[in-house]
Amino acid sequence: MADRPVVFSGMQPDGELHLGNLLGALRPWVEEQHLYHNYFCVVDLHALTRQEPQRLTEKTREVAALYLAAGIDPQRSTLLVQSHVKEHAELAWVLGCFTPMGWLERMTQFKDRSRKLSSERIGTGLFSYPVLMAADILLYRANLVPVGEDQRQHLELTRNLAARFNRLVGETFVIPEPKIGALGARVMALDDPQSKMSKSADSEAGRVGLLDPPDRIRAKFRRATTDSGSAVDIENAGPGVANLLEIYRTLTGCDLAQLRSDLEGVGYGRLKETVAEVTISALLPIQERCRDLLADPRGLDQILAQGAERARPTAAATMGEVREKLGLLPAAG
Ligand code: TYM
Repeated sequence: MADRPVVFSGMQPDGELHLGNLLGALRPWVEEQHLYHNYFCVVDLHALTRQEPQRLTEKTREVAALYLAAGIDPQRSTLLVQSHVKEHAELAWVLGCFTPMGWLERMTQFKDRSRKLSSERIGTGLFSYPVLMAADILLYRANLVPVGEDQRQHLELTRNLAARFNRLVGETFVIPEPKIGALGARVMALDDPQSKMSKSADSEAGRVGLLDPPDRIRAKFRRATTDSGSAVDIENAGPGVANLLEIYRTLTGCDLAQLRSDLEGVGYGRLKETVAEVTISALLPIQERCRDLLADPRGLDQILAQGAERARPTAAATMGEVREKLGLLPAAG
């Protein structure tokens, strides 16, 4: 295992996971987990920027259960909760001291989110959020970070930050590469195909929750925005139809020829029904396993405890090197 490239990725337990999270991240993680030395993290400290405390415990377990239900094998991959390994927060502070404000001010996710809030209500955590993300990745010397398209800018910042630290302090961090799939990396909202499907969007109609029951999934697809035409024209599909076609292609794994034979020329009503049924078939087994896992919270907590246990030595080794390079006085004893 040791000579395999290291993969690190994570999701925030800050709302309901949706089809975009599955297609852009979770499924690619599962499909390629045998190729890498993996760390899959539930990033609960990131979720503090907007999660109500009462729901954080429940959501953290739910995200971990969904990782497992989707096929993450805890023997093969290290599954951990971010706050269980204290070095994430420690390295984030250190990296923050090397991060120019301007880099963070340019982050589009920060600009989008902060636009909705007054400056009195924006925590500095939201501002420095990409620094904690960089710490997550650099702590394990990850080579690859499989994410959806929306994380590309954060990954670029992580790379710049690692290079800057290496230059100013001495060679310490591996410069990670983003791994963004050709399909499914940007699933759009069903009700607004100009915006990405998102956990935080006010409108629930735009996202298919991974735990949504079949009828709700059918209803959401039925109301999906399509184009002005009435039948599928694959070459000239507008954003709504293109999004449905991409969901179909990603879920079925079909090639373009098969897509044409399955869906070219079919009416929009049929298209929506077909994509809804393919989605339901993909989600039902995940939902069933997730329910079983959540029925045994102690078992789940045990798996997470083992994951943290496995992650700690690597995190501690990196942090030890960072402390030494920075001249932090070791505690006596
Ligand atoms: P988060 O929790 O918003 O999303 C988790 C993953 O899902 C992907 N994703 C999507 N992919 C396709 N279509 C969509 N509509 C869509 N929406 C979300 C995201 O790109 C992501 O891969 N900052 C991260 C969490 C994080 C992290 C990390 C990721 C913290 N530390 C270290 C990688 C490495 C986030 O908020 O993801």
